Amino acid sequence: MIPTPCHRHVGPEGPFREVYEPAEDTFLLLDALEADAEELRRGRCTDINPLAGLCTVETAIRNNVDIQPIITDLITGLLPRLHGKVDLLLFNPPYVVTPSAEIQSHGIAAAWAGGKNGREVMDRFIPLVPDLLSAKGLFYIVTIQENNPAFSFIEHYYNLSFLTADEIIQILQKCGLKGTKVLYRQAGRENLSILKFCKS
Ligand SMILES: C[S@@+](CC[C@H](N)C(=O)[O-])C[C@H]1O[C@@H](n2cnc3c(N)ncnc32)[C@H](O)[C@@H]1O
Repeated sequence: MIPTPCHRHVGPEGPFREVYEPAEDTFLLLDALEADAEELRRGRCTDINPLAGLCTVETAIRNNVDIQPIITDLITGLLPRLHGKVDLLLFNPPYVVTPSAEIQSHGIAAAWAGGKNGREVMDRFIPLVPDLLSAKGLFYIVTIQENNPAFSFIEHYYNLSFLTADEIIQILQKCGLKGTKVLYRQAGRENLSILKFCKS
């Protein structure tokens, strides 16, 4: 079992109070990654919140790993360099259903504000994924039930937490990616899922 990375420096009292504090969604994503730990290597990650970049550097130092954060909108600053080169792509997006206006933030509200169906940020990112992934590339994304409006009622009604017919899975399938729901967990009012994709 891989120990949870040290994240005592993140939280409402310290210098990184405007950065998303790891929560149930974060830990569910970590659990999914632990299952595929062999494939994890050194990485870059991006964020739109500059403080999240600083916080990532602090997290990396405290956990003795090498991470180079890049402040950019989604992956804009890395295109077209990364086309076809990404072996592991992770996205824990802002997925909460909010008014669309809230997604303009570059601060802490960017951590949760997902706009209509909680999908406005992830829907800008998803079409980029097939071109980014290498032939053996994997993509993991955190979603909640509300992000799959066409299916959330059916899943909820029949308690089908591992139903694979999610709207997001179907969208990426049309772009040549094969997807499955690898983990599901109820955390308070959120029904969280980790979706995993590879080139089919
Ligand atoms: C739910 S939080 C996840 C934080 C952290 N990765 C985790 O798993 O605990 C979503 C993160 O996405 C970032 N974000 C929101 N919109 C973004 C965008 N357009 N481009 C890059 N990052 C964005 C937020 O600043 C926030 O740090």
